[in-house]
Parts: sequence; structure tokens; C-alpha cells
Amino acid sequence: MLGETSKIYLEHLMAQALSQLKLTSQLDHSPDISVPESRFGDYATNAAMILAKKLKLPPPQVAEKIAEAVRQLDAEGVLAEVSVAGGFLNFRLSQEALVKNLNKVLDQGDLYGCSMFGQGKHVVVEYFQNNVAKPPHVGHLRSAVIGDSLLRILRSQGYKAVSDTHIGDWGTQFGILIWAYKNLNGEKIVAKHSSDYIAALNQLYVEANVKIEADEKLREAAKQEFAKLEKGDAANRELWQKFVRLSLEDFEHYRQWLDVLPFDHNLGESFYEDKMPAVLDDLKKKNLLTESQGAQIVDLQGQKLGVAVLVKSDGATTYLLRDLATVKYRVGDMGISRALYVVDNRQSHHFEQVFEISKLAGYVTDQQMVEHVDFGFMSLPEGAISTRKGTTISLHNLISEAQKRAVNIINDKNPELDNKEAVAKLVALAAIKYFDLSHNRKTEIVFAWDKALSFEGNTGPYLQYTHARIHGILRKATDNKQQITGANALSFTPNELSVLRKLNQYSEVVQQVAQDFLPNQLCNYLFELSQAFNTFYEAVPVLQEKDEQFRAFRLHLITAVAQVIKNGLYLLGIEAPEEM
Ligand code: ARG
Repeated sequence: MLGETSKIYLEHLMAQALSQLKLTSQLDHSPDISVPESRFGDYATNAAMILAKKLKLPPPQVAEKIAEAVRQLDAEGVLAEVSVAGGFLNFRLSQEALVKNLNKVLDQGDLYGCSMFGQGKHVVVEYFQNNVAKPPHVGHLRSAVIGDSLLRILRSQGYKAVSDTHIGDWGTQFGILIWAYKNLNGEKIVAKHSSDYIAALNQLYVEANVKIEADEKLREAAKQEFAKLEKGDAANRELWQKFVRLSLEDFEHYRQWLDVLPFDHNLGESFYEDKMPAVLDDLKKKNLLTESQGAQIVDLQGQKLGVAVLVKSDGATTYLLRDLATVKYRVGDMGISRALYVVDNRQSHHFEQVFEISKLAGYVTDQQMVEHVDFGFMSLPEGAISTRKGTTISLHNLISEAQKRAVNIINDKNPELDNKEAVAKLVALAAIKYFDLSHNRKTEIVFAWDKALSFEGNTGPYLQYTHARIHGILRKATDNKQQITGANALSFTPNELSVLRKLNQYSEVVQQVAQDFLPNQLCNYLFELSQAFNTFYEAVPVLQEKDEQFRAFRLHLITAVAQVIKNGLYLLGIEAPEEM
């Protein structure tokens, strides 16, 4: 079955063993199964230790009892060894089980690692929340990369996962932009920048701001333009729609450059404009809304979350109020069971307020329903790709710079390669995305070209290269048709066993990432798998192997490694070319 893992099997065995021994009720949750250092085994649990304490018995005695029950229950022979070390139980998988899994990789191919655990659950993943008329910043880049990977991972586990960009298309800044467009030659400037509308609109906006800073009357004029827009003034509506339309065109180019999956929704902030009054009503009815100096607020000081402003004293609605309307809509109208917000950690406080008020209002009924998938800042090298403050970036420059560097490397390594440019683009994207994803998303990171593009170490290009290298070997093995028969009787070298073990962990790692949304675990796993393969390949002959059975087995083994690297990279949003 898709997604079934030896860990899940072991969890069942443990549950049955404890029930037989009438110990189930002694634990307040099912036993934790962990992956210990490999010399101890493939899995371990401290359940016996916990039970021994409760029962006031020596831990080895309890562990021994459970071990015996597990051995008896393992009718499928998945475990080669169940051993007791102090209060710990260690489990080692049998060679049969590992070979069976190898066959599963080969049978299931691209589907290996998929499961249906998320079936019936509807998740919205919100990421790449660009703002109309504003160039993306590094946070938007990270959000796109992380969000795209999470979407792929959730879908692979059977969730109905949909994406939404929740673009920033509403707010008083549009008053300034409309004023600028009308008064600073907007039409001409936009017409001149047909390949980069956002640059044109941003230029207008920046110029307007300079003028407004110097002249209070202009600020008032811009405010008036926004008020007209809010009231539905036809000319202003039309202009605003034009800004949104042009920006969406540019966002679509960014999406294509980045090669992230198409978005299911682009429900911008403006979509919630007419849904805000109902939220204010809900909060009023629950006595949550108070007036303070003319503003409408929710006081969250009791929860140590300060004061949340929903409507400002001048009557303008806030970003926060739109987010509340968004939660209500997603839960109520879209019927989602969960929403993930992939947004940088500068907005942590904002989301804490949004989620707290959503709970108070009754929109959100359990903690898990809304989650801020936060990430830290990534500093980029200064120059063509980022501004001096490292804030806004040109995605186009970033990607073409990466591609240029990748072409140089390929020229060095494999000058004969066909379609070098296309492969270089894949390597470039792998370098950027993998650099991002391989760090724990919560940390601050410093982007470095040399590291990201290196063909050695824990990098995207290294994994791509390992994958292509295996395909190179397989291209030479024209007789690679044999079934693996009798592999159970072969006696494997430790290098072969460690590759088999690694292959077996893949589904478990993916399932873990689908729970805690930390794709760096998948990166680490793929890196370790590649290392295990490379160690194996250096030590053991494959193409030169004389023994038919061993040769066939090893060819299958490396086919499976390539398959798993490909599947894993796909979940990270990275392509795996077969030649590079
Ligand atoms: N557009 C916002 C920004 O660029 C991010 C939006 C995040 N999502 C949300 N639901 N508030 O800062």
C-alpha cells in the first residue's frame, strides 16, 4: 500500500504487544519510535523505561517482556532482531524487509513516498504574497520556495491542498499611486516599461512619496483618491484594476522564472473588502470590540498580545481586519480544515493577534487550524540582484545571474553536454531553492553563490549530479532487465545494507515534513542517501561485477537511489535532469 512504512508497522506491533501484556492504559500516549544511531538498530523506543517507572519494576525486565511479545507478533518477519539495552528496546529490520522495500521503490516509481494520510483534509497554503505595484523582496522569494515545497509534500500525502497568493492589492497606498498616475505622467511611464510594469508603478509610487513628504496638501489629495476608490468612483476603480492586472502579469512571469506550481487562487486583500463589516458585527456581538481614541480595537493585553487595531480613527480598515475576514472566509466558505501562512517572522506578532481574535470570535475551533509557517531573513549579496538594504530583489536578475554561473561550471565539467542553457537553468534554480530549503526555515541565513552552486556537499547541484551520475551508469548497462531474484540469499556488504536502509527511511521522512513543515529534514535525508550511494559506489563494483546476481541487484539498487533522489527533489520543487 502507498505510504505504509516499517515504522508504522512497528507502531502496530508495539500497540498489540502492550495490549496483550495489558499495559496500554499505563501510557498516556502511544510509544515514541525513534531512529537511533545505526549501531543500535533501525528503530528504538523508551516505552519500557516509562512503563518500568510506573510499575516500579526493573526496566530490563519490562523491556524483555515486550521484546518477546513483539518477536512473536512479527509474523511477516520484518524484524531481524529485537534487543534490549537497559530500558531501551532496539529493533533491526530484516534483509527480506529491506529488499521488499527496494522492490517497492522500483514498482511504485514516481509514486514511491506518496500516501493517502491526508485524505479528506482540505488545506490552504498561502505563499508568495506579493504586493501590487511593488517589487518582491527576499521574504517573498523564500515564501515562494518554501510554500511550493509544502504544497507538493501535502499533495503527495493525499491532502486536498490548494494554494493562494493573497496578494496585497488594497490599502491607502493605492490613493498615493492613483494620485501619482494622474499627476506624474503615469500613462507614459507605464507604456515605456512594458516588460516590467511593477518597476514603472513602483517608480511612480516612490516619486509621489517624495513629493508628499514635502507637501501636506498632496498627502490630503492622495487620501481623497483612496476615499474615492473605496466609495466606488469609476475612474479610480478602473485605474486600480489596471495596477492589479499589470502586476498580476508580472507575478506570473516571476512564477514561471521560479518554476513553482501554478496558483489555485489569487484572492487578494481587496477580495475581503465587502466581508469586513460582518467581522466587525461578529466581534461586537461577542463584546470583543471597543473604541479607543476613535479607533475600533480588540484589547489583547490580557493575552500579552497588545492592542489590535481593526479600524483606524480616520475610518480606514486595516490589514489585520482583512486577515480576520480571510480566516472567516477560508473556514466558513472554502470549508478548509487548515490554513498555513508562509510568511517571514517579522509578521509573527501580527499573526498571533489574527489567530487569537479568530479563536475568540469562534472562527477557529482548534489550535491546529491556522498556523504561521514562519521563516527568518535571508541576506543576499549586494549588487544586481538586491538593493543596498538587501530588501527588494530582482528575481529576473537573481535567476539569470545563477544561470550564468551554472553555465560556467557546466562548461568546465561537461563541455560536450547538449542543451547546456536549459540544464544550467535547472541547476541555477536547484542552487537557489535548495540553499533556502536546506536550512531550518526559522533561522537567518546568508546566501553565498559558491556554496549554493557547489557540486559537493549538501547542495541542490550535488544531488542533481548524483542523480545524473547514476543515470550515466545505467545508460551503460544495456542488460539491466533482470528481476531481482534470490536477493534474500545474497550476503550484502555493509555499504549495500546502508543504502537499503536509507531507501527505507524515505517515506517516513516525507511524512514527518508533512507534519512539522520543515523541508530541511528532507534535504538532509537526500544528502545522506547520496553520500551512502557514493560510498557504496566507490567501494563496490557495479558494471564490472562478474557475478550475475550481484550485478543485477546492484543495478537495481542504484536505480532505486536515483528514483528516490528524483522523487525527493520533486517535493522540493527541483528538477532532476538525467544528464548534466
Ligand atoms: N503582502 C504581505 C507582505 O508582503 C504579506 C501577506 C501575508 N499574508 C497574510 N494573510 N497577511 O508583507
